[in-house]
Amino acid sequence: MELILDSSNIEQIKDLNELLHVSGVTTNPTIITKSGRSFEDVVNDLIAVLDEEQMLFIQAVSTDVAGIVEEAKYIASLRKKNMYVKIPVTHEGLKAIKECKKLGIGVLATAIYTADQAFLAAMNGADYLAPYVNRMDNYGDGVENVKDLITMLKVNNMNAKVVAASFKNTRQVHELIKAGIQAVTIPCDVAYNMIDHPGTAIAVDEFSENWKKAYGKTTLR
Ligand code: E4P
Repeated sequence: MELILDSSNIEQIKDLNELLHVSGVTTNPTIITKSGRSFEDVVNDLIAVLDEEQMLFIQAVSTDVAGIVEEAKYIASLRKKNMYVKIPVTHEGLKAIKECKKLGIGVLATAIYTADQAFLAAMNGADYLAPYVNRMDNYGDGVENVKDLITMLKVNNMNAKVVAASFKNTRQVHELIKAGIQAVTIPCDVAYNMIDHPGTAIAVDEFSENWKKAYGKTTLR
C-alpha cells in the first residue's frame, strides 16, 4: 500500500518522511492557498523535500480542457519523474484526462464523489483515482463506496490505482487499508493520530523510571 501525505506543510512533511515510509505528497489548490505562500515556493520546497522516487501530485486550476492541458504540461515539466497532474472529473476534466494520457502525462483523477465517476476516469486512462471519502459521507457511506470501486476495478482488470483521499479520521483510513486499498493520501494530523497513543508514552516512561530506580540511569550501558 502507498502512504501519501495530503499537505503543503513542509516541516510536517519532512518530519513524517523521516518517521514513515512515505510514497509521495498530494496537494490541491486549497491546500496550497492555505500555506499563505506562492505556488512556486511551495512546489519548489516540495520537490526539494522529496527524493526523486517519491511522487508529487499537483492540481490543475483551469477548468476548460485547453487550460487544464496547458497547466498539466507545465506541471509535468517541473520535475524529471514521478510528477502527476490532478484533474477533477468534470466533463472538461474527463476530456483533459484523455489528452494528457496521449501526451504521456501522469494523471490523478480527483474530486471524485462516486465509484462510477472514478471508474469512467480509469477508462479514460487516469493512473490514480482519488475518491473523497469524508465528503462522500455527506451523500452516503464513503468507505463502502470506495470498497465498491476497488471491486469494480478488480473484476474489470483495470490498472488504475485508488488513492483514497479527504480523510478526517483514522477509522476511515483503517477500514480502507483492511479492504485492500492501493493507496491513501492523509493529512499530517491524521498521520500523527495513527502513530501516537498515550499508552505508548506511559509505557515508555514506566520502563525508564523502573530502570532508573534499579540502576540509577536511563540508558542500557
Ligand atoms: C487530495 O487529493 C484531495 O484534494 C484532498 O484529500 C481533499 O480533502 P478535503 O476534503 O479535506 O478538502
